[in-house]
Amino acid sequence: MNEDPNTTNRLSELRKRISSWRKEKQRIVLVPTMGALHNGHLSLVDLAHGLGDKVIVSLFVNPKQFGANEDLDLYPRDIEGDLAALARHSVDLVYMPELDQIYPPGFATTISVSGISQGLCTDTRPDFFDGVATIVTKLFLHCQPDLAVFGEKDYQQLMVVRRLVRDLDLPIEVVGGPIVRADDGLALSSRNAYLSKRERASAPLLHKILAQTAQRLKEGLVMQKACSPGVHKLAKAGFELDYFELRDALNLTPLRQLDEMPARLLIAARLGDTRLIDNIAVMR
Ligand code: PAJ
Repeated sequence: MNEDPNTTNRLSELRKRISSWRKEKQRIVLVPTMGALHNGHLSLVDLAHGLGDKVIVSLFVNPKQFGANEDLDLYPRDIEGDLAALARHSVDLVYMPELDQIYPPGFATTISVSGISQGLCTDTRPDFFDGVATIVTKLFLHCQPDLAVFGEKDYQQLMVVRRLVRDLDLPIEVVGGPIVRADDGLALSSRNAYLSKRERASAPLLHKILAQTAQRLKEGLVMQKACSPGVHKLAKAGFELDYFELRDALNLTPLRQLDEMPARLLIAARLGDTRLIDNIAVMR
């Protein structure tokens, strides 16, 4: 086990490491993160070890994916804790680029993935996926991984990244990792740290409603009917819903009800000042 993971914030140093690994024919796996790591992130690191030879984790809180009134300044940061956790999970290199390295003065390029980015999270966070697509493209170009691992927790993000990689013919395999949950069902998220004790006690309702609605869809109800008891329960418990939708699991086309194709039930809601998102697979 590494006691102290190798870290760098310099692109030149990163490139040196990568080119020596490439000469040794090592398969490189990248796990991009914004830090404040929890077991959801760490599950992706473990998955990455099984997919390749060298695992790079990036830690970068990307300002371009936060809206003007969002939580960029408040976003939890815990470099020491993150590095200790990454050492325990035997990461080969931690890339922590400085803001200037990623967005030097005059930076003017945006990567925008249309179609799959529309609706869902974009309805409340209009610039979010442009910010994600731009940083992910830069991280891919910096780290040149053979594979990259993203969590299904951010399902629309995973689909946007898959589309981006396909459209630009990037030679990178994108792998999705399953959602890691607390024992009470709440999907782990760095933002769960914002929840008050009371809100934290209500938060698992989101997953419960997803599971109940999935069951009602399997019984043949259309989405509008399947979701309505859950929508009421969430409102009663103090959640403000951003969206609750049934979508095709592969292309995110909206669905009225389950058909033969794999589907995904996706939800986003605010509880107090905290925005929570979650989703589950639904099959007939
Ligand atoms: P962040 O929120 O730090 O998440 C990093 C990765 O961890 C993402 O792929 C996310 O889907 C995954 N993840 C988060 N919670 C998870 C959970 N409970 N179970 C499984 N995986 C989970 O997502 C981002 O950062 C950023 O948008 C990023 C892709 C790094 C670009 O800035």
